[in-house]
Amino acid sequence: MISERTSKIKPSLTLEITAKAKKMKASGISVIGFGAGEPDFNTPDYIIDAAKKALDIGFTKYTPASGMAELKNAVCAKLLRDNGLTYAPEQIVISSGAKSSLYHAICAMVNDGDEVILPSPYWLTYPELVGLAGGKTVYVKTRAENGYKITAEELESAITDKTKCFILNSPNNPTGAVYTESEIRSLAKVVEKHGIYVVSDEIYEKLVYGDAKHFSIACCGEFLKEHTVVVNGMSKSYSMTGWRIGYIAAPLDIAKAVSSMQSHTTSNACSISQYASVEALNSEKSEKFISEMQKTFAVRRELIVNLLKEIKGVKVIEPKGAFYVFADVSETFGKSFEGETVDGSVSFAGLALKKGVAVIPGAAFGDDDCIRLSYAISEEDIKEGVKRIKDFISELK
Ligand SMILES: Cc1ncc(COP(=O)(O)O)c(C=O)c1O
Repeated sequence: MISERTSKIKPSLTLEITAKAKKMKASGISVIGFGAGEPDFNTPDYIIDAAKKALDIGFTKYTPASGMAELKNAVCAKLLRDNGLTYAPEQIVISSGAKSSLYHAICAMVNDGDEVILPSPYWLTYPELVGLAGGKTVYVKTRAENGYKITAEELESAITDKTKCFILNSPNNPTGAVYTESEIRSLAKVVEKHGIYVVSDEIYEKLVYGDAKHFSIACCGEFLKEHTVVVNGMSKSYSMTGWRIGYIAAPLDIAKAVSSMQSHTTSNACSISQYASVEALNSEKSEKFISEMQKTFAVRRELIVNLLKEIKGVKVIEPKGAFYVFADVSETFGKSFEGETVDGSVSFAGLALKKGVAVIPGAAFGDDDCIRLSYAISEEDIKEGVKRIKDFISELK
């Protein structure tokens, strides 16, 4: 009864752990959850006030399907200010979250059987969206020694005459990898040589640490700009995950296709959230909010990385962006806990939960050697949670 396309969607590996952790918590058991995919900050008051104003003035009706003009203008101003990119408002489409932007953009580009190159580990939603669009995901395994970043040679060797596009996610979920400008320029050369397209998911752009800098591949000349769909949104930078506002900046034909597709799927993103997003993007207060959030994450990043490094059996590569650590726990495989063998990231996560700590198995992101830990939680919880992981590993036989 269920269509072939939809029946291929994989059940979320993360859901099982999260559901179990919730159940344990509800029954009074203490569980430290490292699963959070969203900043643990409130949306700033001035953005909330703007949403209240939208309601008060009756800004509660349909907007144009591709988004209200003021928000598209604010996105254009942001892209120029932060990224040095010039777009016309017609090239911007506002969607109900970046996930929706990605889905529509991939549908607008991919024909049945087209190949989409995806560096692995990857954010688990991409292959599902490619599959729903009728495309085929071509995974390119990146190496921990290379900071989980695809090289220009690796990209080139994955390109065939069926390749339509390449998904670049920097800063990366789940690895925290951030590509340098020169790495991006090398990838751009390959893209240009083969005439493929790029979907550049830049949703974590504001969360980079140390000497890492965000650089958009769309900045690598006119060809790249004409072959890149920049995806971004309000969720992570402004702690607005529930508001559901994402956007693309794209070549005009792609923006138009996305806009007409969206006019039939979701219509406009929530008018109130759009109104508040104008304030978020334009307000002078945002710089301070983002900088404080970034600083908090920077401290937690250092804390969690240092604590994890102390655990025998755990290997970590310092993440440069986003708010995740991708830790290799494969040294523990083959050992057992309470009679059950740890045979991969899923059983590691399942058994660690018995010690009151919830982590996301790397298998969900295409790397069964690792687990993903989010540090969008308090320092206190980080300390206690990592201690529980340490205890769990030390009890393995
Ligand atoms: C890499 C990446 N892209 C996009 C998104 C989607 O963000 P949104 O909340 O705007 O749909 C997420 C959310 O977790 C993400 O991790």
